[in-house]
Amino acid sequence: MSVDKLKKDLDKVLDEALKLITNVNNHTDLENFRVQFLGKKSILNGLMKSLSDLAPEDKAKAGKDLNLVKKKINDFINDKKISLDVTTDDNLDAFDSSMPGKLSSLGSLHPITKIMNEAIDIFQSLKFEYVDGPEVEDEFHNFTALNIPESHPARAMHDTFYLENKNLLLRTHTSSVQIRTMSKKRPPLRIIAPGKVYRKDSDITHTPMFHQIEGLYIDENVSFANLKSTINIFLKSFFEKDDLKIRFRPSYFPFTEPSAEVDIEYFDNKGNKKWLEILGCGMVHPNVLTMANIDCEKYSGYAFGLGVERLAMLKLGITDLRLFYENDLRFLKQFQRV
Ligand code: FA5
Ligand code: MG
Repeated sequence: MSVDKLKKDLDKVLDEALKLITNVNNHTDLENFRVQFLGKKSILNGLMKSLSDLAPEDKAKAGKDLNLVKKKINDFINDKKISLDVTTDDNLDAFDSSMPGKLSSLGSLHPITKIMNEAIDIFQSLKFEYVDGPEVEDEFHNFTALNIPESHPARAMHDTFYLENKNLLLRTHTSSVQIRTMSKKRPPLRIIAPGKVYRKDSDITHTPMFHQIEGLYIDENVSFANLKSTINIFLKSFFEKDDLKIRFRPSYFPFTEPSAEVDIEYFDNKGNKKWLEILGCGMVHPNVLTMANIDCEKYSGYAFGLGVERLAMLKLGITDLRLFYENDLRFLKQFQRV
């Protein structure tokens, strides 16, 4: 064995290793490759043994060359191992496509939001236009322009949250949007104004924050019959029940005349027949039209204010309205698919 021969053998081994390593596609082939080039019976190991045949002055250099080739082959193996760990068939084998996936928990709309959207859809199909108004209101829009002067006892009917600026308050009803709309648009008008309202109220049918949908229709020759028919159509469609029992009960609001409250018949847990008030309504008071610069000789109109939580109670069979706002997910999740 000469140094030159050894060098040639090493070059041949390296060439062959380089060729073969490109075809290695899995960990088993890689292990075979390692055994072939670095194992006990490998050519390199054989060459290592033959170093002892060399003249002592050549041994050191030949040993160095041999170690260099060994290192290169080791590098091939390590690089290949890294790329196999990312893309290997072995890895694909470890991926079990029949395993169930990990479900991330999806959020969903609050039941009151869903009920509100359903109600809005029906009114929009009846050609009511959606308008918006501010939740922080002034006394003029919430009371005065609705024919509720400062001394009027009706202000006491609404337990009001006032802001530090005494003229501002959290609106107690969506009727303030009637005024804002009439000051901007001329009749004929047919709008709904859904949104949050606030009162110092809390029991099984009252919460301090709740939602109303205001409706206002102003045109020539609008009558109470039109109001009644719209409310009937809406409620029967919302509850999907043609024989729904609806009661118009005479009532009082300073901004409508005549006025009514509408109740719906339902059965409580014990099977007793009961009525639940769901809205207030009436014919827009001539004073309100006049304050909005609308000719009350030519135009008339109706308005209503619907309690969304009350609709939800009846539709979802909930007996305590406050549950909607305790934010207990066990309660809310029941309505995920409603
Ligand atoms: C009003 O708020 C009038 N603005 C309704 C109106 C509009 C009358 C237009 C005439 C013309 P009332 O205070 O009755 O009326 O409230 C209307 C509805 O809101 C009630 O029928 C009830 O369904 C609901 N409601 C009232 N207070 C609460 C409360 N604290 N929590 C949940 N729902 C409530
Ligand atoms: Mg009422």
